[in-house]
Amino acid sequence: MSEDDRLRFPATERNRGPILAVLERVLPSRGTVLETASGSGEHAMFFARALPSLTFQPSDPDPTHVASIDAWRRSEGLANVRAALQLDVHTRPWPIDHADAIFCANMIHIAPWSACLALLEGAGACLREGAPFVLYGPFREGGVHTAPSNESFDRSLQARDPRWGVRDLDEVVALARTHGLVHDETVRMPANNLTAIFRRSP
Ligand SMILES: C[S@@+](CC[C@H](N)C(=O)[O-])C[C@H]1O[C@@H](n2cnc3c(N)ncnc32)[C@H](O)[C@@H]1O
Repeated sequence: MSEDDRLRFPATERNRGPILAVLERVLPSRGTVLETASGSGEHAMFFARALPSLTFQPSDPDPTHVASIDAWRRSEGLANVRAALQLDVHTRPWPIDHADAIFCANMIHIAPWSACLALLEGAGACLREGAPFVLYGPFREGGVHTAPSNESFDRSLQARDPRWGVRDLDEVVALARTHGLVHDETVRMPANNLTAIFRRSP
């Protein structure tokens, strides 16, 4: 493992500022934030630097991504980022007792629907009452795409893997409720993305 393991996902530089503005508002002031599907690890580093009173726990199932996260962690030298967990959200139980918040960006459309189910179930089990679950990405709303670019993105995803696709936020909200995650707010983000915020019910 070396600094050369650091991956760069260009979209993270564009969306991290607007996402941080949401996180600053909805995350607790202290505690552990579990990030699922961390990818390169760039989001976790940026958020951890901006929010030093929180501890970030990045994770991803892909060993290349885990190596990238840990290479970024070493090069950034951030004391509030833990070593990455190799976590596929389908795993039971998740290798973390509980988190004070969970963040997931750009995963549920680029994985089978079972990954969305598993994410919601795992998040519901991991969070305590009132804790936020923050889900960022492209969504349909009421079954309808929010922009032509999302519609063509959806077609390209399904051409790559018929199990993938832009999910309907209404379906996600309904399913989340069955796992004790109550939809609190939807924030409109740049580039036709949304951030959906849920809270763990009692
Ligand atoms: C498009 S990347 C997004 C990475 C990062 N969150 C971002 O926004 O830049 C999708 C990520 O989802 C992860 N992923 C796919 N299936 C997953 C699963 N079943 N459990 C957890 N992560 C998964 C992939 O390994 C990849 O890192």
